[in-house]
Amino acid sequence: MVSVGHVVLVGAGNMGGALLSGWLANGIAGSSVTVIDPSPSEAMQAMISKAGATHHSTLPDGLAADILFLAVKPQLMEKVLPGLKPLVGETTVVVSIAAGTTLAFLTRQLGEAGMVRAMPNTPAMIGRGVTGAYANPKVSDAQRDAVQALLKVSGPVEWVSSEADIDSVTAVSGSGPAYVFYLVECMAEAGRKLGLPEDVAMRLARETVSGAGELLNRSPDIASKLRQNVTSPGGTTAAALSVLMADDGMQPLFDKALEAARTRAQELGG
Ligand SMILES: NC(=O)c1ccc[n+]([C@@H]2O[C@H](COP(=O)([O-])OP(=O)(O)OC[C@H]3O[C@@H](n4cnc5c(N)ncnc54)[C@H](OP(=O)(O)O)[C@@H]3O)[C@@H](O)[C@H]2O)c1
Repeated sequence: MVSVGHVVLVGAGNMGGALLSGWLANGIAGSSVTVIDPSPSEAMQAMISKAGATHHSTLPDGLAADILFLAVKPQLMEKVLPGLKPLVGETTVVVSIAAGTTLAFLTRQLGEAGMVRAMPNTPAMIGRGVTGAYANPKVSDAQRDAVQALLKVSGPVEWVSSEADIDSVTAVSGSGPAYVFYLVECMAEAGRKLGLPEDVAMRLARETVSGAGELLNRSPDIASKLRQNVTSPGGTTAAALSVLMADDGMQPLFDKALEAARTRAQELGG
């Protein structure tokens, strides 16, 4: 594990808590982490104290941060950031995972600093997420390595070269888990319409999507190869795919859906 210095985590809810638990499980010393959160869950408080990390309900005077990690809701940023400004020194890197909160906004609130905007997704809660991240030019190589070490506890990190790309990351992977859950719903509903009992159709769809995801995870093959492997010419899978892969099938639908997600992300960022 690279040295991350002193990390101040602001917000230990779903995502901040998942990251904190990943840090502690992956060799970050509790003594190098301070958590600011007005009312962390009992489980979170137990984890913080067991790891020897420090918790404060509000920001104490005199705290310094090598990495200031912001994991509060975007709508709280305006209220929370002014109080955090004293934490941001010459060598501090600020990391925000808040959807739609731009680096321009963070700079207005906190002053010029090395800053990273990162977009994790919910499977981070089981250490199986993926994160897209953008670092502004003030972030040094060492700071980027330290931030990468913190982000990668929840899964792979993909760095993008412009902040605007974070809106596209949001559309693909940030919002992506919901598309997969909806795929399960659609498959189950189609199975029900074919005459299967609703609960049976749902179990079949759920296990199929999670099992196929796990197969993709474990296989060295790319998705299209795995698809071809199970598609015999003239068979049942080919019959379904001829519908899904038609000109008016899933691709144009996904193009439209992800465009809508990116547009919304752009609107949220002002
Ligand atoms: N969940 C996702 O799928 C996801 C994905 C990508 C990015 N994100 C981003 O991650 C961020 C956190 O989301 P989340 O789902 O983890 O939200 P969350 O569960 O509500 O966590 C936010 C935490 O911040 C705490 N908090 C409230 N006011 C605070 C303050 N003044 N100082 C410090 N902490 C404060 C909250 O406490 P209370 O509960 O007591 O208010 C809560 O524990 C958001 O900006 C979101 O956009 C989330």
